[in-house]
Formats: sequence, structure tokens, C-alpha cells
Amino acid sequence: MKVVGILGSARENGSTNCLIKEMMKEPAAGGAETKIYNLAKMDIGCCLGCEVCRKTGSCARKDDMRALYDELKTADALIISTPIYMGGMTGQLKTFIDRCFALKDAGRNSLIPAGKKLAVVITQGAPMPDHYIKTADRIEYIFQGFGYIHAGTVIAAGVHNTDELLKEEAVLKKAREIGKQLI
Ligand SMILES: Cc1cc2nc3c(=O)[nH]c(=O)nc-3n(C[C@H](O)[C@H](O)[C@H](O)COP(=O)(O)O)c2cc1C
Repeated sequence: MKVVGILGSARENGSTNCLIKEMMKEPAAGGAETKIYNLAKMDIGCCLGCEVCRKTGSCARKDDMRALYDELKTADALIISTPIYMGGMTGQLKTFIDRCFALKDAGRNSLIPAGKKLAVVITQGAPMPDHYIKTADRIEYIFQGFGYIHAGTVIAAGVHNTDELLKEEAVLKKAREIGKQLI
């Protein structure tokens, strides 16, 4: 059993990573392997739109996405996370998602085995939890298109750093509960 977290914040010690780690507690306690990838620290270029992947089944770019393609195909559960930046997901998460184009074949069939679990983690400064729900829904929709089963979304609203997040016991509890659903 393996759970992979995709960190869409550059802040390694920020609230988004903290919430991923909270979500991974239960799977880790149950013996699952857990791994978090900080996109900002990786060499992941933009999708070139060349559509070579449609013909060959693999992306023409030879960068760190290669490791993530393998992880997505083999891990049992995926956590996609982002802080809200300028009203939406961060640039590095959008670039990662664009590159996931290569995970469908010419017939738009997913190259990821169906039935894996997905969780979505959103953090935001705005205090209204539903204010950016469309970002969470969009991520859910895209990965359901790859065959993932949505286990849950947790939104930490009104937080600007880890100290503020750690005061949000209901949010942390929800993250742990979704974590149980990933197993
Ligand atoms: C460049 C930048 C843009 C941001 N834009 C928004 C925004 O549009 N709406 C919002 O609610 N919060 C916004 N925030 C606040 C972050 O979403 C919030 O502090 C988040 O918890 C940061 O997560 P992190 O600690 O994991 O980096 C922004 C923060 C930064 C640095």
C-alpha cells in the first residue's frame, strides 16, 4: 500500500504540507508507505502540446515528471494539494496537471489503473470555506477522469501559516478521517 502526496505549495513547512502529513498519519500507522513530492523543488517543465504522448504513450519531455508518471500508475492513493494563489491553484500544480495529459492514450483512456483513491487538500487565507470550492471540484473532476475514486476534500480556510492551521482541530480531524478512507 502506497500513498503519494503532491505538494502544490513551495513552502515545505507550510500549512498545505502540514495538512498532507496529517492525512497520511492513519495510512502510515497502518503500515502504508507514504511519500510527498514538492513540485517546486522538482524539474517539471510545461506541457509542450506536441502530443507525442498520444502517439507513443509517453511524454517527450525527459524531466522529473517521469518519476511522477510511475508513481501515479503504481501508488494506491493520491493526495493532490494546493494553497490558493490569486484565486486558484498554484502554477506548479497546474503545470503538473497539464503534464498528466500524457496519462491518457489516443482514445482518451486513462493509463492509470482504475479504482485508486484520491483526496484533495486546499489551504487559503480567505475565511469562507466554500469561496474557492471550484478549484477543489476541478481537481476532483480531472482525476476522476483518470479513474480515481474521490475519498474526500479538506479545506483549511483563514490560514496563513502552520501555526494557524494547527489551531483548526476540526480541519485536522477531517484530514485524518479522509486519510482513513485512503487505505
Ligand atoms: C502569492 C500568494 C497568493 C495568495 N492568494 C490568495 C488568494 O487569492 N486567496 C486566498 O484566500 N489566499 C491567498 N493566499 C494565501 C494562501 O492561500 C494561504 O496562506 C495558504 O495557507 C498558504 O499555504 P502554504 O502555507 O502551504 O504555502 C495567497 C498567498 C500567496 C503567498
